[in-house]
Amino acid sequence: MKKYLLKLNQIETLAQDICENFDNGVIILKGDLASGKTTFTKEFVKYKGIVEEVTSPTFSLQQCYGDRVFHYDIYNHGLDHFISLGMLEELEKDGVHLVEWGDEKLKEILDAAEIENMTINIKKIDDNSREYEVNYAHA
Ligand SMILES: Nc1ncnc2c1ncn2[C@@H]1O[C@H](COP(=O)(O)OP(=O)(O)OP(=O)(O)O)[C@@H](O)[C@H]1O
Ligand SMILES: [Mg+2]
Repeated sequence: MKKYLLKLNQIETLAQDICENFDNGVIILKGDLASGKTTFTKEFVKYKGIVEEVTSPTFSLQQCYGDRVFHYDIYNHGLDHFISLGMLEELEKDGVHLVEWGDEKLKEILDAAEIENMTINIKKIDDNSREYEVNYAHA
């Protein structure tokens, strides 16, 4: 597990590091409201060289950027609903899947299904910085 304290203009380095080390599987983005989950996703997509607008997928189940970056937010629907809609099958698809509001239960399901995953836990430290706890635990 690694921890980073990053300002807005420093997230790029973390996005780059994760991009280079994690090319296939699910990135569980944990963190309270407005901690920075969508912002990290934006940096990740940008670092991938994809020039598409990243928006919060609060009302859509899945957003795709390029061919192999997928973005979800399970806050509104809840994990059970998300799974019942067949999203686990989506998460198995080739590419990187960033899931806002993922939790331990999602991790357990992914591990059981042998879907590669990692967790980033984001905490607001103050208005100008966030702590990113990065867990490269493999399935
Ligand atoms: N490392 C950072 N340092 C300072 N501000 C940040 C950082 N990361 C994100 N922010 C700011 O935090 C605010 C909320 O960011 P964001 O929308 O990404 O949060 P979120 O976790 O996706 O929220 P939600 O739970 O509503 O989906 C934005 O104003 C963003 O600019
Ligand atoms: Mg968000």
